[in-house]
Amino acid sequence: MLRRLHHEQPESFAFTAANQAWAEAQVTKYPEGRQASAIIPLLWRAQEQEGWLTRPAIEHIADMLGMAYIRALEVATFYFMFQLQPVGSVAHIQVCGTLSCMICGAEDLMAVCQQKIAAKPHQLSADGKFSWEEVECLGSCANAPMAQIGKDYYEDLTAARLEEIIDELAAGKVPVPGPQNGRYAAEPLSGLTTLKDFDSGQTQYNASVQLATDIGDTVKRIDGTEVPLLTPWQGRPETAGQTAKPKTEPKPSANVPADKTGVTKQEAQAQSKAKPQETAGAEDKPQALSAARDGKADNLKMIKGVGPKLETLLHSMGFYHYDQIAGWSDKEVAWVDENLEGFKGRVSRDNWVEQAKQLATGAETEFSKKAKKDDIYKD
Ligand code: FES
Repeated sequence: MLRRLHHEQPESFAFTAANQAWAEAQVTKYPEGRQASAIIPLLWRAQEQEGWLTRPAIEHIADMLGMAYIRALEVATFYFMFQLQPVGSVAHIQVCGTLSCMICGAEDLMAVCQQKIAAKPHQLSADGKFSWEEVECLGSCANAPMAQIGKDYYEDLTAARLEEIIDELAAGKVPVPGPQNGRYAAEPLSGLTTLKDFDSGQTQYNASVQLATDIGDTVKRIDGTEVPLLTPWQGRPETAGQTAKPKTEPKPSANVPADKTGVTKQEAQAQSKAKPQETAGAEDKPQALSAARDGKADNLKMIKGVGPKLETLLHSMGFYHYDQIAGWSDKEVAWVDENLEGFKGRVSRDNWVEQAKQLATGAETEFSKKAKKDDIYKD
């Protein structure tokens, strides 16, 4: 299936304040220079907030992670879990259409979706509340046929029960997920044949359903206020009500040769390059220009790590040319790193100076070659 960005896109995207804090915390899970590893959780959070992934959201996250937009777009378009078009404001229903479910009645479930929601998958219902699609096996084959709605599984479905579930959701209710035919979990419908003394525990529902019911956010948009920000690697509150304090202990790798600690070469380089940031003062600001020479700036986006937003920021700071960046001293790099609002540390992280030195001579870098070949970031 061809997965493309929707033809209508909003002007902009911003995480809610709580989601922004959550997203920034996720990035700290990864070593210096590997922030792009946070791409999937951040895209997912944006989708949880908006319901679907917009182009501005993908670009916003790419900027946060210092990635070329095309790289973030590749991730968003590759994984089917990312919705690239608007979904129902109440629920997006994902009906499993793989073998077990198909044998057990998935086609009847899809007929319900066609009749009650829209004739084709990914179309919005007339009232905008619902959308649906067929998905591949969701791993609940013993409870076929089934559908995922929001975050939860509705299993052992019949067409009639799915109709009721849609009606309940439309009325603002959240039906209890899990088996819809009276089963506790995936035991035989006729009753247990083995492990008969199995105690299902003290919970009313099986573990997944109990948790889903306790949390109760199945079809809710997530604005970041629902769950505490669990970032134990940044420190824990000492007592209730205290804000978590970042840990100040040095990383185990600090001042230890990279080859004896298991720290990657890239991490060690990033750490050593980051050091000058601590000592930059106002006098270390590199010489700036009031405008591009001859009115023609270099295409700074050919420097890996510089996207359109960063380029605009650099222009606003008086930096237009490769040779300007190529000439920055360590202290000047530190000053720029410190003053790139929203992009701190990018100069040393992506080694702009070395890249700019090559580009200033008219040579290409690996990145600029690829960017030109892929036709991204044209002037
Ligand atoms: S076939 Fe439907 S969940 Fe596996």
